[in-house]
Amino acid sequence: MKSTIAIIGAGNLGLSIASGLHQTGHSLVLTRRKTASLSSWSTRENVEVTSDNIQAVTKADVVIIAVQPSQCDRILRQIKQSLQKNCLVVCTAAGYQIEQLEAVLGSNTAVYRAMPNTAISVQASMTLIASNETGVSRLSEVEELFAHVGETLAIEESQMQAATVLCASGIAFWLRLIRANTQGGVQLGFESEVALKIATQTAYGAARLLIESGNHPEAEIDRVTTPSGCTITGLNVMEHSGMSSAFIQGLTASFDKINEIKSTT
Ligand SMILES: NC(=O)c1ccc[n+]([C@@H]2O[C@H](COP(=O)([O-])OP(=O)(O)OC[C@H]3O[C@@H](n4cnc5c(N)ncnc54)[C@H](OP(=O)(O)O)[C@@H]3O)[C@@H](O)[C@H]2O)c1
Repeated sequence: MKSTIAIIGAGNLGLSIASGLHQTGHSLVLTRRKTASLSSWSTRENVEVTSDNIQAVTKADVVIIAVQPSQCDRILRQIKQSLQKNCLVVCTAAGYQIEQLEAVLGSNTAVYRAMPNTAISVQASMTLIASNETGVSRLSEVEELFAHVGETLAIEESQMQAATVLCASGIAFWLRLIRANTQGGVQLGFESEVALKIATQTAYGAARLLIESGNHPEAEIDRVTTPSGCTITGLNVMEHSGMSSAFIQGLTASFDKINEIKSTT
């Protein structure tokens, strides 16, 4: 069944989600205060643009809140009375918790936290989703929506901080590794744009190998490491310099930081 989906806060993330969902035939209602920047959307079929959040949610089967965390409380209070009875409410605001959603909307409303990453703009996000008790039975409907903009996984809310590090910050970690590969390529004699293309496609290929084969990374590494060859020689120098260890320490430091920020806000 095609749903009506209201996206409250059609900024970077909201519009990325809208782009993925628009192709699926769902009706979309997009809101932001300054709607002028949404003029190219208002002429599209099955899309309504408004600055009126209350009007936007009145007919919506799903409401996606994609505003900054500091704006969530006020917007939830504003729309609360106008939500349809069986509406699903999905909040993407980093750090905004299910108990905060329930404090305004009540625990009988099906509420969800979704944590995508910036690859959502090219429909290649990894989106982690957690639900409150009421929402568990309809979690698959929310997963289905975000499956239009990448892969999804349902997790416990207690894992959301770790998910933020691995998935949302994770994009930056992988980009920095691609940059390091590019710098190495330039040192080996390639022009920088050529080195970047080689590094990017190789990273993409490595990820696709794992996704399509289901293999463990080490099994794929075994396939390219000839005994005494150049690949194992390079890999071992990287490991002696602490590559895996640096990555793991970075992830845990990032996790400590996100918990510290949470405990002081
Ligand atoms: N970008 C990502 O990939 C990503 C990933 C994971 C999580 N998140 C989370 O998603 C949320 C949105 O991120 P973003 O990068 O898309 O931010 P953004 O570009 O700043 O988008 C937020 C939008 O909300 C609109 N807005 C503000 N107040 C509003 C109101 N009262 N009613 C309706 N719309 C309102 C703003 O437009 P106006 O000023 O015109 O109203 C703006 O376009 C954040 O909480 C962030 O933590 C983002």
